[in-house]
Amino acid sequence: MALQLGPVRLATNLLLAPIAGYCDLAFRTICREWGGVGLACTDLLSPEGLLRGTATSLDLARTNDFDKPVGMQLYGSDPDLMAEGARWAVEHGATVVDINMGCPVDKVTKKDGGSKLLTDLLRAAAIVERVSRALEACPLPRDEWARRLGNATLAGDGPMPVPLTCKVRLCWHTSDYEAGQACSPGLALALADAGVVAVTVHGRTTEDKFAGTVRLEGIARVVEAVNGRIPIIGNGDVRTPEDCERMIRETGCDGVMIGRGGLSKPWLFRDCWAHLHRAGLGRGAAPVELTPGEPSEAEILASVRRFFDLMRDYRDDRYALFQINRRVSWFSRSLQRELHNGKLESIKPFKEAVRNARSPAQVYDAIDRFAAGELRGGLEMQEEAAP
Ligand SMILES: Cc1cc2nc3c(=O)[nH]c(=O)nc-3n(C[C@H](O)[C@H](O)[C@H](O)COP(=O)(O)O)c2cc1C
Repeated sequence: MALQLGPVRLATNLLLAPIAGYCDLAFRTICREWGGVGLACTDLLSPEGLLRGTATSLDLARTNDFDKPVGMQLYGSDPDLMAEGARWAVEHGATVVDINMGCPVDKVTKKDGGSKLLTDLLRAAAIVERVSRALEACPLPRDEWARRLGNATLAGDGPMPVPLTCKVRLCWHTSDYEAGQACSPGLALALADAGVVAVTVHGRTTEDKFAGTVRLEGIARVVEAVNGRIPIIGNGDVRTPEDCERMIRETGCDGVMIGRGGLSKPWLFRDCWAHLHRAGLGRGAAPVELTPGEPSEAEILASVRRFFDLMRDYRDDRYALFQINRRVSWFSRSLQRELHNGKLESIKPFKEAVRNARSPAQVYDAIDRFAAGELRGGLEMQEEAAP
């Protein structure tokens, strides 16, 4: 049975996470083109910014017909403002509206948004109720639904509201979690009562930030408490298809959201989708390439080039150069060849050529030279970590 968010039946049970500053329209497009993505989400959006029409917010919220189904994620703490932001999202192409209840960053929590909501469950529920009412007041007709489904399908007929989801962490304090008092199991139930159709659980506390390893047991507790009332999507540390399988087997979650793992391997969703199918855990109607194999060097380079082109199209050259500069080493890791002694060949010259590029032509030139066998040599000395 497909993973269903309200009336939206996803084509796979794999979701691309919001990662502020990284999961823009260009990157979502690349992941979708590799395959396996059931839903992709914008990075967190400020309702004030959207309503005021600030350039940054509009860039972050940018979507198109291919970028579907898409979740638009809002953050904040004022129920009325969040409701207006949700209405804006519906008017600008959202397939799903998501509320951020997991961000640990001071800028967000100091204004009572993000994971601060884990410490004020009444406010969290009040926001959801208010946003739910706003969404119900602007249902989409069937022809409009058709435009924002992408590879998803619609359950039901007639005008229907855009569904609401939330993304949470286990709780704020690690000591609460360790004492068995995480708020997330009760919170997920309260959110379901207030109108949320699915909850994503990042298996860390706010105090954990991004340290340590994901606490699968904490996600399992939410799944158990909710007991099938709404789908629970597990999130955290999925970097391989085996991690994805483990997330589902150990927590019982209905779907898996992947963030950082996709930044260096945008084909990870395709690989996880194939793996879940082989393991009997794939849910959804998307086509499956059962043994996709590692992408070739030519395919990876084509993907890097396409990513760069899309960033130039959707934003501008400056943005594209900035992003390719800070991301080239993650993409490149899969380009490294093993030498006969088992060590990795250095591709530092390639990375430096991309990083030093001052114009798009220099980026294309670096890609072409690398494809021709240049800009490599010697041994790789150090690994650079993705965020
Ligand atoms: C740099 C960075 C930015 C993030 N931005 C967001 C965000 O905008 N909204 C959100 O809900 N989560 C955000 N997250 C959290 C991720 O969505 C995800 O929950 C977390 O990285 C764990 O999943 P992963 O191990 O698959 O990356 C961010 C994480 C990182 C590292």
